[in-house]
Amino acid sequence: MGKGALALLVNSNQQNWSPPRWKARFEEVCPDRRVVLLPDPALDPAEVHYAAVWKPKPGDLAAFANLRIIFNLGAGVDALMADHSLPDVPLVRVAVGDLTDRMTEYVVLHVLMHHRQELYLRESQRAKRWAPKYQWAAGALTVGIMGLGTLGAASAHALRALGFRVVGWSRNEKRIDGIACFHGADGLDAFLRQTNILVCLLPLTPETRHVLNRDVFAKLNRESLLGAPVIINAGRGGLQNEADILRALDDGTLGAASLDVYETEPLPEASPFWSHPKVVLTPHNAADTDADEISKYVAQQIARFEAGQALENLVDRKRGY
Ligand code: NAP
Ligand code: GLV
Repeated sequence: MGKGALALLVNSNQQNWSPPRWKARFEEVCPDRRVVLLPDPALDPAEVHYAAVWKPKPGDLAAFANLRIIFNLGAGVDALMADHSLPDVPLVRVAVGDLTDRMTEYVVLHVLMHHRQELYLRESQRAKRWAPKYQWAAGALTVGIMGLGTLGAASAHALRALGFRVVGWSRNEKRIDGIACFHGADGLDAFLRQTNILVCLLPLTPETRHVLNRDVFAKLNRESLLGAPVIINAGRGGLQNEADILRALDDGTLGAASLDVYETEPLPEASPFWSHPKVVLTPHNAADTDADEISKYVAQQIARFEAGQALENLVDRKRGY
């Protein structure tokens, strides 16, 4: 009897995310396994042992009675957590150096952009205005990172290496060299009171929905040379209250926002974020998943599982991440 099939379901219109490309990559790394692109009306669902998916619709995986593992083709599993009919098998998410490095690049780029007053300098250039503003040292600012997991911890280390003061906030207590760590609801205010630039790398769960809200913005530290604090959200759009962000930008509670994710994606044309002078917007591509790296990672996890070893990066369904 042959090995069980691997079913692929990719709902994305991003460049490099074409389903045939993913299929070709999986066929290369799993040469002795049938790889099937869903939907496939000719497929017998009983043949499928593994599913590798990105943003399936609720119910898409319910028919696969012999499924052994679901692989999420990205780090965040919020779309899967919303599917109440998801088969009760291990769910593995992506945590690989390639994706982590891409996110670190995004975070460092945007922290530096605000620290080095790039919005002001670009505006000066457009106005042909020679008006230098003093550039202070990185150590004059504290960057606060919400979420000290795979991505948050890597960004924290990179920012620390650049000389920023870094504080972090997580659900459970942590100790990380050179980074002041806070945790839980009780630690949030002390974390915010120190933070000049707030970076959000949390997963979206019932506990974290709309954690970026007006009350949180009002508690951020305004005493640095930056003046009004800045937020950077590359976690998920559901983490942010968008009306609160707009009000806070307009009344000066926030000085600027870098946003990669939105409550509705693609961002509707009518969104005020598109043309807001204090918003630096990217279309949810802070850290793209690379088919070459991720297909290899999935193949390794299948090999571990079939050799009786423990799976890595398992999602805790109760926690939601
Ligand atoms: P991770 O390793 O699971 O880390 C999540 C972190 O968030 C952990 O430190 C966790 O605390 C903390 N956390 C979770 N719930 C919390 C709560 N209620 N209060 C305080 N802290 C909480 O996840 P990751 O790999 O770093 O990824 C984080 C998120 O980034 C993903 O879920 C995804 O949404 C997003 N993402 C976005 C992009 C993009 O392109 N924009 C790309 C990849 C990922 P503990 O450590 O105590 O558990
Ligand atoms: C991308 O958003 C991911 O979760 O990997």
